[in-house]
Amino acid sequence: MRTLIKNIDHLYTPDLNRGFGQVLDLQKVHLLLEDGYIRQIIASDQPLPEADEIIDASGKCLLPGFIDPHTHPVFWKTREDEFVMRIEGKSYEEIAAAGGGIRNSVRKFRQASKEEIKEISRRRIARFLEFGVTTIEAKSGYGLSTQDEIKSLEIINELNDEQALDLIPTFLGAHEVPDEYQQNRAAYVELVCKEMIPLVAERKLARYCDVFCEQGVFTVEESRKILTTAMEYGLKARIHADELAAFGGAELAAEIGAVTADHLILASDEGIRAMAERGVIPVLLPGTTFFLGKDQYARARTMIEAGCQVAISTDFNPGSSTTQNLQLIWTIAALKLKMLPGELLWASTWVAARSLGIERQAGSIEPGKQADLVILDIPNLNYLPYHYGLNHTYMTIKNGRVVYK
Ligand code: NIG
Ligand code: FE
Repeated sequence: MRTLIKNIDHLYTPDLNRGFGQVLDLQKVHLLLEDGYIRQIIASDQPLPEADEIIDASGKCLLPGFIDPHTHPVFWKTREDEFVMRIEGKSYEEIAAAGGGIRNSVRKFRQASKEEIKEISRRRIARFLEFGVTTIEAKSGYGLSTQDEIKSLEIINELNDEQALDLIPTFLGAHEVPDEYQQNRAAYVELVCKEMIPLVAERKLARYCDVFCEQGVFTVEESRKILTTAMEYGLKARIHADELAAFGGAELAAEIGAVTADHLILASDEGIRAMAERGVIPVLLPGTTFFLGKDQYARARTMIEAGCQVAISTDFNPGSSTTQNLQLIWTIAALKLKMLPGELLWASTWVAARSLGIERQAGSIEPGKQADLVILDIPNLNYLPYHYGLNHTYMTIKNGRVVYK
């Protein structure tokens, strides 16, 4: 099966020879796909090859399919009541300390069957394809019992097999201390390390392990223990770090060699330096800062100047960031993190792919790679974060198939 995407106004892909933020801009080209893979970029003065299917991309831009490297898509009920409480002046932390927040979602998650949650998650994740996203990282973390965390990871793995979007599973049993362990947190850390991680690893239900390392949630010591245990079992580490307080999460990520450290609003200079040295990828989530109504954003420029390649993400979840519109995140990242369009392209494709270990298959437009692509109805790359709040996707192509139009 050959598909020809013809008359592409701009084909944009990270310029891997020139480095972070630099963009290859091929104008007036055609792209040939074959059996789900990218076959050839064809210049406009070359003859058009035969194809079974032709897509006309005149006046449009073609980019690698976006990769969202930090999402929490497997939950049951939404939390709009807490949103209103925040408008009235309560903070995210106060709501969580009073038993709301993640623990609220956990109580609800445990009441629903696997099939019910799977069905609602299936409908939910389809929306990523609409926004041009072709792969997401998907975390568990609303079960917080062995049985319910397995339920969550099984849903992620089954949905990955059953529909077009790729989901890369992360075990987040240490998302919060559940109600029944509030008086005995050490026992919960033990449960995560001695029972959940071995089982998740044995059943190959996740590639990564994550911890919410934060004041009032898991300490640096607890996070170190959980992540190093996970690494002994073959899971790679990601970490929610320094979001609500400067807490030493970035330093811990560098110390243990985590693949990513995420949020990082309050990461220290030393933490940033250490991450750059160790090659830890910062995954920045400015939509969360925005949605929590805060003024202080992650210091992306400092991280980039220190030598970090930065990824960005929606952080899609029912509490702190409810959007799946990665294009809107581009605008927030541009305005609040001062990231340039070329850097945003890298952050949503190549760097995100590297953070998930899929850069050989995805994350750039090169012959031999998976045909994961987005055609945007925009005149040029700068236009994407500029015309904000709406969806510019004309078509999403996953493994060579049109999955959204
Ligand atoms: O990344 N920080 C922890 N997890 C999510 C919030 C999850 C929730 O509120 O349900 C986050 O912001
Ligand atoms: Fe998160």
